[in-house]
Amino acid sequence: MLEKLNELEQRALAELDQVADAQELQNWKVKHLGRSAEVGMVLEGLRELPSEDRPAVGRRVNEVKSSLEKAYASKENVLRSNELVHSLTEERLDVTLPGLSPARGRIHPSTQTMRHIIRIWAEMGFQVYRSREVETDEYNFGLLNFPPHHPARDMQDSFYTTDPEVILRTHTSPGQIRVMRERAPEPVRVVLPGMCFRHEQITARSEIQFNQIEGLAVGYNITMADLKGTLIAFARRFFGEDVRTRFRGSYFPFTEPSAELDIECFVCGGEGCPVCKRTGWLEILGSGMVHPTVLENGGYDPAVYSGFAFGMGPERITMLKHGIEDIRYFWANDLRFLEQF
Ligand code: PHE
Repeated sequence: MLEKLNELEQRALAELDQVADAQELQNWKVKHLGRSAEVGMVLEGLRELPSEDRPAVGRRVNEVKSSLEKAYASKENVLRSNELVHSLTEERLDVTLPGLSPARGRIHPSTQTMRHIIRIWAEMGFQVYRSREVETDEYNFGLLNFPPHHPARDMQDSFYTTDPEVILRTHTSPGQIRVMRERAPEPVRVVLPGMCFRHEQITARSEIQFNQIEGLAVGYNITMADLKGTLIAFARRFFGEDVRTRFRGSYFPFTEPSAELDIECFVCGGEGCPVCKRTGWLEILGSGMVHPTVLENGGYDPAVYSGFAFGMGPERITMLKHGIEDIRYFWANDLRFLEQF
């Protein structure tokens, strides 16, 4: 019996030697240490032995069992460390390689310009007023002194809804009426930023949607000199203290008199170049004294009150500032463009 146990131990250990992976090891364990393992069988045959032989055989069985268990444990360790060595050498990671850095979002160039412009107006005491993008024909045109069927409406081709009275605003100026009707007879000093829409052919210079920042000041004794001084102060803060400016007479139905503000071309310094179309000047906004009819429509007596208004396009100003030659980049969502800002 002892002989048989020795032989069994040798055989099991020899087989364990041949084991090469986790699966084989598991099979070996079932065979030699499992419930129906041979060592166990020997234990069951113990009853048939003469009682004086039993203790020695029993002891030997336990010895063999624990020697196999020990051998199993050390084999398991060997296999596990082999596996580790394998994965470290074969599936090696080069931790010194540069990683993939996550893409960082940015503020849209238009929004950056809007925030810069709004910050300057806020410093000069102008509140931000958010007016609606969907407007009525009455607010967008009628109350702003565009007579019905007046050709001035063609300057701004509208997007209409199924209701011909309801349109997308073509400029931020209808917000002037909304602020005045809300605040009259209190004085007003606000800027109105937001998206506008025009049903036009999209080209490098014109988009069907664009931002505007409207400005409105209404109060007592506001004059054209206030308009000029305020807009020049803005231009200096935005473009730099030394910027040269000029006002050019213009026409808008809702202001009288009207003027456009030009700044000296910062690309050529006024010499004339393709950006300023050889004029030396860049147009940055439209403005004027609020038309008496518009004041009245807003609820202010034009005999007592006066005011000025202006409207500028942040995309256009951003284009001038960064030398962007095509307005279509702004809403094309091309990261190669947006990531430059
Ligand atoms: N609303 C005008 C435009 O879109 C700009 C403007 C605003 C002009 C306020 C004068 C006063 O062209």
